[in-house]
Amino acid sequence: MGYKIAVVGATGNVGHEMLNILAERQFPVDEIVALASRRSLGTEVSFGETTLKTKDLDTFDFSGWDMALFAVGSDATKTYAPKAAAAGCVVIDNSSLYRYDPEIPLIVPEVNPEAIHDYKNKMIIANPNCSTAQMVVALKPLHDRAKIKRVVVSTYQSVSGSGKEAIDELWNQTKGMYVPGQEVEPSVYPKQIAFNVIPHIDVFMDSGDTKEEWKMIAETKKIVDKNIKVTATCVRVPVFVGHSESVNIETEEFLDEDEARDILREAPGILVVDKRENGGYVTPVESVGDFATFISRIRQDVTVENGLNLWCVSDNLRKGAALNAVQIAELLGREVLKKG
Ligand SMILES: NC(=O)c1ccc[n+]([C@@H]2O[C@H](COP(=O)([O-])OP(=O)(O)OC[C@H]3O[C@@H](n4cnc5c(N)ncnc54)[C@H](OP(=O)(O)O)[C@@H]3O)[C@@H](O)[C@H]2O)c1
Repeated sequence: MGYKIAVVGATGNVGHEMLNILAERQFPVDEIVALASRRSLGTEVSFGETTLKTKDLDTFDFSGWDMALFAVGSDATKTYAPKAAAAGCVVIDNSSLYRYDPEIPLIVPEVNPEAIHDYKNKMIIANPNCSTAQMVVALKPLHDRAKIKRVVVSTYQSVSGSGKEAIDELWNQTKGMYVPGQEVEPSVYPKQIAFNVIPHIDVFMDSGDTKEEWKMIAETKKIVDKNIKVTATCVRVPVFVGHSESVNIETEEFLDEDEARDILREAPGILVVDKRENGGYVTPVESVGDFATFISRIRQDVTVENGLNLWCVSDNLRKGAALNAVQIAELLGREVLKKG
């Protein structure tokens, strides 16, 4: 016996990937429904070899459904996630709406799987921000060995992290550089994204940090350890899919770069590609469609007593969103619902 699963936001970037990953990982599905806005009613989406016709989220009854994987943004989540939860369907949500609610577990299965049992509090589980998810997979095994005190991270985030309209904006601006008369004014982003980088993701806060930077700080504390200090600079780059991060880590105990490499090689969800030669590292293009978080450029930072640097790359639509959500669904099935 398997599960009755709803994919909410099935016509979006993350929704597509959730359907792909559920099929690829042969999630035990008895019945699956694809939901989106009324605009997309009847739109066909693929689930493995099967084609599903999208239904209207607004009129859907979640009674009798086991889990709903939400990827519709905070506004729609606010309206529909409580309805699904009240109907007894466990919500696994990709938006930021519930991440900082102390009663709602925020889970990366490789890092804090034990938090799954807190799903009972509100029948909702939150999925972290894309940049946080891949970073904490790398931080956790190093923290377990040498206790991380402080992290300085700079991100290089792809446009797919801002939804399908942002992908179109990068594509159209890029074409516009070559085809006279096809220039496109920025609309998703505040400045030109093609052939440029923008040190601004989400809104500015009073501290001067952006909300994206604040999310990395707050979420790392909630998922890994509240005592870890994090400072972040989040930057949008003209890459379609795949987020990269330069991560500087300061630990309480000394951790040699070779031991760190060995620890990361053994860690779940990580693939170390770290040769000190031309091309001996992973770039975002190579991460697309993969399940792993790739770690490269592991090296000592000798400017502090116990310091390490590394380069972390992952497919943001997968580990940063859809894959992590499906892994949470697998964990919930394995540890709690036990149907599959
Ligand atoms: N992309 C990432 O890397 C990433 C990472 C982590 C978290 N997330 C989060 O995941 C969510 C989805 O992101 P995305 O990149 O997939 O966005 P997207 O490509 O723009 O897709 C949005 C989806 O939400 C649906 N939707 C929007 N408003 C709706 C409403 N009122 N009722 C029903 N359906 C509605 C859309 O349906 P229609 O097609 O019918 O409009 C579409 O299926 C967001 O909360 C985002 O913050 C994304």
